Amino acid sequence: MKMRAAVLRQIGLPAPYAESRPLSIEEVDLADPGPGELRVKIHAAGLCHSDLSAINGDRPWPVPIVPGHEAAAEVLEVGAGVLDVKVGDHVVLIFRPACGACPDCAVGRPALCGPGGESNGAGSLLGGYKRLSLPSGGTLNHHLGCAAFAEYATVSRRSVVPIDRDLPWEQAALFGCAVLTGAGAVFNTAKIEAGARTAVVGLGGVGFSSLLAAVASGARDVVAVDMLPAKLELAKQLGATATFDARDPDVIAKVKAATGGGVDYAFEMAGVVPALELAYRITRRGGTTVTAGLPNPAATWPLQAVSLIAEERTLKGSYIGSCVPSRDVPRFVAMFRAGRLPVDRLLSERIRLEDINPALDRLARGESIRQVILMH
Ligand SMILES: NC(=O)c1ccc[n+]([C@@H]2O[C@H](COP(=O)([O-])OP(=O)(O)OC[C@H]3O[C@@H](n4cnc5c(N)ncnc54)[C@H](O)[C@@H]3O)[C@@H](O)[C@H]2O)c1
Ligand SMILES: [Zn+2]
Ligand SMILES: [Zn+2]
Repeated sequence: MKMRAAVLRQIGLPAPYAESRPLSIEEVDLADPGPGELRVKIHAAGLCHSDLSAINGDRPWPVPIVPGHEAAAEVLEVGAGVLDVKVGDHVVLIFRPACGACPDCAVGRPALCGPGGESNGAGSLLGGYKRLSLPSGGTLNHHLGCAAFAEYATVSRRSVVPIDRDLPWEQAALFGCAVLTGAGAVFNTAKIEAGARTAVVGLGGVGFSSLLAAVASGARDVVAVDMLPAKLELAKQLGATATFDARDPDVIAKVKAATGGGVDYAFEMAGVVPALELAYRITRRGGTTVTAGLPNPAATWPLQAVSLIAEERTLKGSYIGSCVPSRDVPRFVAMFRAGRLPVDRLLSERIRLEDINPALDRLARGESIRQVILMH
């Protein structure tokens, strides 16, 4: 079928993106779902920093590619062998498909699925197929098995989790990346205790989801750190107990003073080394620093090795919030519905697909939380 999609052909075009226009809205071809696949109608797709990283080259993927990996969609067609999802179901797309059979899937760590990582790296669906093509005949790659900046998508059954039909599309989309990643880092990767002292460094959709999860967990301190006053203000409204400007030269001393010597758990959710350094240094002795931001692969960080040992520190990476999406999407949606995880507060601009390039500028400046494309 023919459909409109945002296509990235050249990585590294300079900002402002409203002028360089790295994404062009084009008519492309979408093939029918093969065995184990679905065709879905994308209703809402969120803009995540990882989409920007695909465009600016911090996380390069094969081009040409249709980006977009955080979306809510309706199932239009099911391929052969799909028995547990039916036409009309509502689903959230998951940006790392899990094969269900590899050693990492077997131990309950689908974020590490080997075949899922390979297919994402190749710009294909799980199983290796590519279902997108250009009218000229050239193949088009799928971003993270989703390719969600499009009117429709063909995806693996293993790239979706069904959701309640009455959840509004724009809210549902956020669960696919921001909420799984940010809340999962708190509930799964760190498993914080009630009464813990926590801090979140970097307040985008991911960091704000961590903040909401820390509040929901009954953390004693929820310190929020960013560089933008508007974000710190919203953090206060959402339950932060103290806020600090990352650019303040005394920020480390101030967080330590406010938390009796540092936090038990610090979450780095900005994706840059200075934020990781800050998160590590505001973690108290014996505490845990969790990092989910995705810096450029060339970025390295000089860690004082002995501090890990002599101060019994833990440093943990977190991908998709260490989630099992089929378990955690329904769990986090239920918390949202109970008013315990108000992720609707993270929605900022609602835009059309045509307006995606200026939206990338807002994302790059850090001024939005979650911008959502309403596709139809
Ligand atoms: N691990 C995963 O599974 C996963 C999933 C999704 C996104 N990510 C990554 O998480 C990061 C956050 O994503 P997002 O969409 O929320 O990003 P975003 O761009 O919306 O938000 C990032 C925030 O960090 C702030 N920031 C930047 N530098 C800072 C610093 N030095 N100190 C404090 N704050 C700083 C910005 O002002 C902004 O508010 C990105 O790197 C993204 O690629 C990881
Ligand atoms: Zn994302
Ligand atoms: Zn697997």
